Amino acid sequence: MFGLLFFATMENIRINTVNGRSLVIMGGDLKTVGDLIPGKGVFIITDTIVKKLYGSTFPAGEVLETEPGEKSKTLTVAGDLCRRLLETGADRSSFILGFGGGVVCDLAGLVASVYMRGVRHAFVSTTLLSQVDASIGGKTGVNLGDYKNIIGTFRQPEFVLCDHRMLSTLPAEEYRSGMGELIKHAVIRDRNLFFDIAASLDRIFERDPSTIGDFIARAVKIKAAVVRRDPLEKGIRRILNFGHTFGHVLETYYRIPHGVAVTQGMLIAAELSVWIGELPHAEFRMLEVALAETGMKSDYELPPNVVSLVSKDKKNISGSLNVVLLRSVGRAFVRNISLTELISFVEYYRESKMRSQPV
Ligand code: GLY
Repeated sequence: MFGLLFFATMENIRINTVNGRSLVIMGGDLKTVGDLIPGKGVFIITDTIVKKLYGSTFPAGEVLETEPGEKSKTLTVAGDLCRRLLETGADRSSFILGFGGGVVCDLAGLVASVYMRGVRHAFVSTTLLSQVDASIGGKTGVNLGDYKNIIGTFRQPEFVLCDHRMLSTLPAEEYRSGMGELIKHAVIRDRNLFFDIAASLDRIFERDPSTIGDFIARAVKIKAAVVRRDPLEKGIRRILNFGHTFGHVLETYYRIPHGVAVTQGMLIAAELSVWIGELPHAEFRMLEVALAETGMKSDYELPPNVVSLVSKDKKNISGSLNVVLLRSVGRAFVRNISLTELISFVEYYRESKMRSQPV
C-alpha cells in the first residue's frame, strides 16, 4: 500500500495556545514518526485492530493495546492503562504516543495528562474522524455511562501526524463517519468549503489521498483558528460542537457511529435555527439536500427521554442550554435556549416528522 506514489503535499499547521503548543503534520509520512519522538521511554497506546494493521510500522517502544471502539472510552480502561504504564516502568520522563483513531486519541490524551500528573504525548492519527477533528485541539475524554466525554482534560498533543494513505484501510462506515465532521467544519465557518466538498464527493469517496488531504487540511485550519482563540472552550470554541447536542443523544441511544449521529444532529440544529427564526428555510433545504447527496442523511427518531439526556449534557448550564445554531451555511453562532424552548422544539420536531411520514 505504501509503495504507491504519493503526491499529497505536506503542510504543517501550528496551534499555539495559552495551554500548550501543537504541530499538526498534514500529509505526513508515517515512517517519519520515529524522528519526532525520543529515542527511549516511549509507550504506544493503540487498539488491537490498528496494531494488526500497522504494528510493523510502530517505532520502538512498549505497546499497550485496548479493545477498539467506544466501549473502551471509560475510566476503568484509562485506569488500567495507567496501571500498565506503571508496571512497564513509565515515569515522568516517558513519552506517550497515541496511535489510532478518535477513541485511542481521547484515551491516550487523558492518560498522558493525568499519569504522574502529566507526561509528554503526541498522536499518529489513523482515521478520517480523528485526522479532521478528534486528535486535533487538545480535548481528551472518556464517557460516564451514557454521557459522552464527561470526564476529560484540555491538553495539547506535541504533534499530530496525519498520513492520509492510512485512510485507505478504514471500513466504509468509519469513513462516512469522518465525513460528518469534515462537513461540520464547512457548515459552521466556510461556505466555499461546503460547496467544494459537495462538488468533489466522488473523488472524496474514492479516498484519493491528495484530494482528501486537501479537504482535511482546510477543515483543520478552521478548527485551528478557533482553538487558538479559545483553547479551553469558554466561548467561540463551542461552535465546534455544532450538531453534537442532539448527535450525542442519537449516538448513545442507537449506538451509531459518531459522525453519522453528528450529521443528523446538524440537521436537527439547522431545523432548530429555522424554528427560532435565525436561518432561512431555503438554507436548511440546501443543507438537507447536500447531506442527502453524501448518502449520510439518516432519520433516527428522537429517543423518548431526549430532553433529559440533552439537558444533562455537559453544555447545559443550570436550567438553560447553550446550543450552536446557524444564520446561514458557513455562519454558526452560540445561543442560550431555555428548557421550555427545548421542550417546545422537540414537540414541534416530532410532529413535523410524523406529518412528513408517507401514509
Ligand atoms: N470536537 C470539538 C472540539 O475539539 O472542540
